[in-house]
Amino acid sequence: MTGIGLQTMAAFRYQDNQLWCEDVPLAEIATAVGTPIYIYSQADLQERAVAFVTAVPSANTLVCYAVKANNNPAILGLLRQAGLGADVTSGGELFLALHAGISPDKIIYSGVGKRRDEIEMALDAGIRALHVESAMELEAIAAIAGERQQVARIGVRVNPDIHAETHPYMTTGEKWHKFGVTPETAVALLHTAREHPALHPIGLAAHIGSQITAVPPFVQSAHFLVQMADELATSGIRLEYVDVGGGLGIDYEDWRLGIGDPPQQSLVPNFQSPHIFEWVTAVTQPILAAGYGVVMEPGRSIVGPTGCLLTRVTYTKSQGGTQFAIVDAGMSDLIRPTLYDAYHPVLPVTRAAAEASPAPYTIVGPICETGDWLAKERSLPALKPGNVLAIMQAGAYGYAMASNYNGRLKPAEILVNGNRFTPIRKRQDYTHLLDGCQAPE
Ligand code: LLP
Repeated sequence: MTGIGLQTMAAFRYQDNQLWCEDVPLAEIATAVGTPIYIYSQADLQERAVAFVTAVPSANTLVCYAVKANNNPAILGLLRQAGLGADVTSGGELFLALHAGISPDKIIYSGVGKRRDEIEMALDAGIRALHVESAMELEAIAAIAGERQQVARIGVRVNPDIHAETHPYMTTGEKWHKFGVTPETAVALLHTAREHPALHPIGLAAHIGSQITAVPPFVQSAHFLVQMADELATSGIRLEYVDVGGGLGIDYEDWRLGIGDPPQQSLVPNFQSPHIFEWVTAVTQPILAAGYGVVMEPGRSIVGPTGCLLTRVTYTKSQGGTQFAIVDAGMSDLIRPTLYDAYHPVLPVTRAAAEASPAPYTIVGPICETGDWLAKERSLPALKPGNVLAIMQAGAYGYAMASNYNGRLKPAEILVNGNRFTPIRKRQDYTHLLDGCQAPE
């Protein structure tokens, strides 16, 4: 892909051998708030959200941020202010989207297993549409809406059977996946919905996967959806919109510090997806040209590059030919390396340490799992206890997938705005581990 598109400021950069987020040195936050901790750049977040909204060539397009990527209420609030709607996948995410003030007519609900209470909640709120993923689910929505004498707006999520290069756990649009329904079933469900007094079919959706860095599979999916929508129109079902899902990937490429970096490389490259404009243009064009509205559901490409996870080295040890840095964050804070073998760049927050000779470090957490690692064999300046490292590109699917495994407390989240930083979620304390628990009678 060519790099047409978004030119944001460098949210994270080195200055005076310190790694900064906007106008705050990260070391200052680590000292003030402790580690592990997630840090987000407000300017970068807003710029990315606005990039999506302005890349859209027509008012008939709705960008529904995929809340699953990062559901911090402050972040949702900023995205709402930028004009984004929400793609939610549970009652909990719907609650958070509504709590952030996102207008219900900008909320769509995707997911294969919506429960009765979740369907009721969506109908109560009056969201734009529930995206149906099975015949049984359509029946359930019809029955629930009928009982309540409501008309449920629905879309159908079709499985387009399109392969996209990404981790196998992140492809969703091939025919053996659990997501969506076959094209034949989608057509049948939309016809059923048209005939049903409690249903109003308005959309056709697909989501082919996540962390996809090539545009052609998305364009293929958009064309596929338009063709289906056109065929439906000939049989009297005129849909309001076609939803291309999310999935645009970001650049997790390493930027090696210490060995062989050219001296002029004083700025951290602006980790970002350079492709927002290209992606939006490519996927919306065929849909708008055919006269349909567009819905899109980006998550990672909005929040991923805006956040990092700060962690402090507790100990180092060398054994079995591996040089370990044991840090205070682990898979309970950032599970992507464990789950997907995912690569996140690792940078020291203070570069003075770069004077020491670099070595390949494997960065591991304190959790009792061999899979508890954050980075393998990274060339970093000699590390010692107390050094703080930044795990970059952690704004999406970072905190959102954190857990209390091994009795660990979820980290704090901080939003940086210019030279100020604000906690947008407190670090848990030990009492959280007792939340909702009670002794048996
Ligand atoms: N829409 C639907 C229906 C989805 O299932 C997803 C992501 C999105 C939109 C947003 O996709 P995005 O633009 O963020 O790629 N935990 C994994 C990612 C799983 C994504 C699941 N669905 C990770 O850490 O990479």
